[in-house]
Amino acid sequence: MKDIIVAPSVLAADFGNLQRDIEMINESEADWFHVDIMDGMFVPNISFGMPVLEAIQKHAKKRLDVHLMIENPDRYIKAFVDLGAEIITVHYEACTHLHRTIQLIHSYGVKAGVALNPHTNVELLKNIISDIDLVCIMSVNPGFGGQSFIENTYQKIKSLKELSKEVNSNLYIEIDGGVTTDNAKKLTEAGANVLVAGSFVFGARDPKQAIIGLKEAVV
Ligand code: DX5
Ligand code: ZN
Repeated sequence: MKDIIVAPSVLAADFGNLQRDIEMINESEADWFHVDIMDGMFVPNISFGMPVLEAIQKHAKKRLDVHLMIENPDRYIKAFVDLGAEIITVHYEACTHLHRTIQLIHSYGVKAGVALNPHTNVELLKNIISDIDLVCIMSVNPGFGGQSFIENTYQKIKSLKELSKEVNSNLYIEIDGGVTTDNAKKLTEAGANVLVAGSFVFGARDPKQAIIGLKEAVV
């Protein structure tokens, strides 16, 4: 099997049975938990905040990949580190001083990622690519689960792969939004190595099998 990371997005879990769903992911072939934090300002939706993340952390046995869809994220980096985030991703569009934000995240010894909205050109990362651990290419407009995949994503992955190959060959290239077994192979062939999947996993009759399906699809 190809070495790809599958990160189920907790946003699509059943919050009435959160512990059950977290434990189900613990037992699955998934690699990370993808945790979407939305502030109702940067994106037109509010997901959940610290108390829910604390509950997730209490049960999760895999890496917490925290995706901050919030304005001025510097205010909360430490709080997310204290709650067990091992990767913190901020949005390019939400950070005036992106380099400073990345330095702040790294100062706590956690990995730093940058997410790009569908309209944001990957070339804009040229001067920061060697300083970051992950790029999250949004393949839907951030804010909601269950949206359809934007086809232009493949082209962006290829450009990012090209941009990173000389300077940061260990970069995680994460795709977030509308990921299914229908596009997983094409995404990894283009250069993606982390697949986030919310509704495809939690909406499946057998979520563990859906995770295996994603891993097998890319072989
Ligand atoms: C969207 C979030 C995604 C979302 C993915 O703003 O960042 O992580 O949960 O959900 P699906 O896989 O259902 O598109
Ligand atoms: Zn996300």
